[in-house]
Amino acid sequence: MPYDYSPHFRTGLPAAAGRWSGFPRYNFIGGHNDADAVPVDDFVEASQRVLAREGRNLSTYGLSSGPQGYRPLREFLSASLKIRTGMTQDPDDILIVSGSLQALDLVNAVLLEPGDTVIVEEATYQGTLQRFDRLGVNYVAAPLDEDGIRMDTLAHILNELQHKEIAPKYIYTIPTVQNPTGSIMPESRRLELLQLARSFNIPIFEDDCYAELTFDGARPKAIRALDDGGQVIYCGSFSKTIAPALRVGYLAGEWDLISRALAVKYDAGSGALEQMMLAEFCITHFDDHVARMQTVLSEKCDTIMDALNAEFGTAAEFAVPKGGIFIWVTLPDEVDTSSLAQVAIAEGVALNPGAEWSADPESGRHKLRLCFGSPTKEEIQEGVALLADICHRETGIPIRSGNVKRG
Ligand SMILES: Cc1ncc(COP(=O)(O)O)c(C=O)c1O
Repeated sequence: MPYDYSPHFRTGLPAAAGRWSGFPRYNFIGGHNDADAVPVDDFVEASQRVLAREGRNLSTYGLSSGPQGYRPLREFLSASLKIRTGMTQDPDDILIVSGSLQALDLVNAVLLEPGDTVIVEEATYQGTLQRFDRLGVNYVAAPLDEDGIRMDTLAHILNELQHKEIAPKYIYTIPTVQNPTGSIMPESRRLELLQLARSFNIPIFEDDCYAELTFDGARPKAIRALDDGGQVIYCGSFSKTIAPALRVGYLAGEWDLISRALAVKYDAGSGALEQMMLAEFCITHFDDHVARMQTVLSEKCDTIMDALNAEFGTAAEFAVPKGGIFIWVTLPDEVDTSSLAQVAIAEGVALNPGAEWSADPESGRHKLRLCFGSPTKEEIQEGVALLADICHRETGIPIRSGNVKRG
């Protein structure tokens, strides 16, 4: 008999994790990326070079760079953020973290207590919402349009909260290639957002992990770059631009905030080999790699939009993503995508139901998020066709007649 741990588990544990049984055949979930786009040969070369030169530093925690992460990587980020986002960020005010998920955890650990309130975009990253749920933090949904958070409604929300004497702890936004909608907030709106945040004295938490992956290569300045008051906390990641399994992200902010985040980062440093390899790789290859990713992903985005149009016709509505790896699809009201996801996964098609990506789950009930980063173009076409068949069988949508099979 195996040892019985159950009497020893603490109360309030989440349900046990299941064992991994492999990826589904048509994998449209998570933030996975294109396998062929991983620059394996360059990684091998960069790793060999940096290890031969500096491998001895692995003998100390934090290499020889201290607890904030490998210094050459922070220097690369400082230079790259300047060019790409317009931000002036000293390497000493950057904290390397184990994926931007850890950045979310650290910022939350520094700023949030149970019962606090934050502002989120009405459709947003599930990992962020789950964190608030676990922390007992309330979130208020700010409506979106094709340019991101609507400022008129945000002002209204902030005024209402003020009347109730609720001071939100921060405004969480993914302004550049929003997850899941794929929109980009223009600079004029970023300035309006800053203005509002200032007048209500609320920090902004800018999550920019898709920002390098705009399909036309252009992006507005980061909100943090537009702010001279230091009210914006910024995080980014190498997960989407290079590879999620590396688990390397970064937090950029004022030292006042970074020093607090560092004080609650209890892991004695994020993985060193990844940081060393990334720094070595990025200094010479980052720009070329990003340009290649933009092309690869933009082609896949075209493939999935064509497949959705062909297989769902007018039943599937979506805005054209401006970058990234996701498309946010609205189906007719009567389709419950959580039920659809359950049936679809049994047939090998994995999708993210909209309710899980919505601050108000009911509003996302008939929406779904599809990740087109990982499947091949053929898998995208086959998977979307199979999904349309399943959806038709379960809900009658998309409507099909004898003469017109699709549409
Ligand atoms: C908006 C957003 N933030 C953060 C993350 C976490 O990414 P990582 O921890 O891999 O950097 C994701 C992943 O999908 C995301 O979509």
